[in-house]
Amino acid sequence: SDNSPIDVPSPSSSSMTLTKDELKRIAAYKAVDFVKSNMVLGLGTGSTAKHAVDRIGELLRQGKLENIVGIPTSKKTQEQALSLNIPLSDLDAHPVVDLSIDGADEVDPRLNLVKGRGGSLLREKMIEGASKKFVVIVDESKMVKHIDGSKMALPVEIVPFCWKFTAERLRRVMEGYGCEARIRLGEKGEAFVTDNGNYIVDMYLEKDMGDLNLRVVSDEILRLPGVVEHGMFLDMASTVIIAGELGVKIKNK
Ligand code: 5RP
Repeated sequence: SDNSPIDVPSPSSSSMTLTKDELKRIAAYKAVDFVKSNMVLGLGTGSTAKHAVDRIGELLRQGKLENIVGIPTSKKTQEQALSLNIPLSDLDAHPVVDLSIDGADEVDPRLNLVKGRGGSLLREKMIEGASKKFVVIVDESKMVKHIDGSKMALPVEIVPFCWKFTAERLRRVMEGYGCEARIRLGEKGEAFVTDNGNYIVDMYLEKDMGDLNLRVVSDEILRLPGVVEHGMFLDMASTVIIAGELGVKIKNK
């Protein structure tokens, strides 16, 4: 089921080049084809997932979808979904999610992901981890050989208490990869605060972690007191929809 080309019009000349946002929308609409009436849906966060949430709202409004329950992965997505009149719930009331749709910052050939540039990685991991099917939507620039935060940093959500201490412990775990650990800043230069009241440390790595070390690195990071969650989503995606200049590819696990 790898690499199946789909019916998206291919631009025949450079004057028809699609923008990144158009590619994101194409991937998002393709993912919403998986949505059926009566589903509990995990609603992702970010500029790609936003298109999917818009589309779900549109199909509900047109009566082409019915009885959908959405579980938003961030306060921002919650606001968007409310503005579209998508009925919302949470994991306490709906512990099993039929389908989640979300973007990613990096995707490797095994469909491991780096997520969290938008800072919503904890709720995303909880909701997408509770999903029977997790469809990831990206433009082709997100595809990498190894997920290692080299496109973006590898984000780690930590508690604010003594964050410098935790950031230094994190840097030391990743020292072998040439790591610089920086606290994420908000618009006014203050520490960025997640929806859960935590901070994010972005880990910039010089060296490739390689495929085999990912679980080990994940466990080492999660063992540190003060760490809440990291942005490596290992073995979670069931399908990745990749929109590129030459059309759409769908990769299944
Ligand atoms: C937010 C995320 C996003 O899904 C990821 O950052 C991709 O964002 P975008 O679609 O805007 O490129 O993980 O926490």
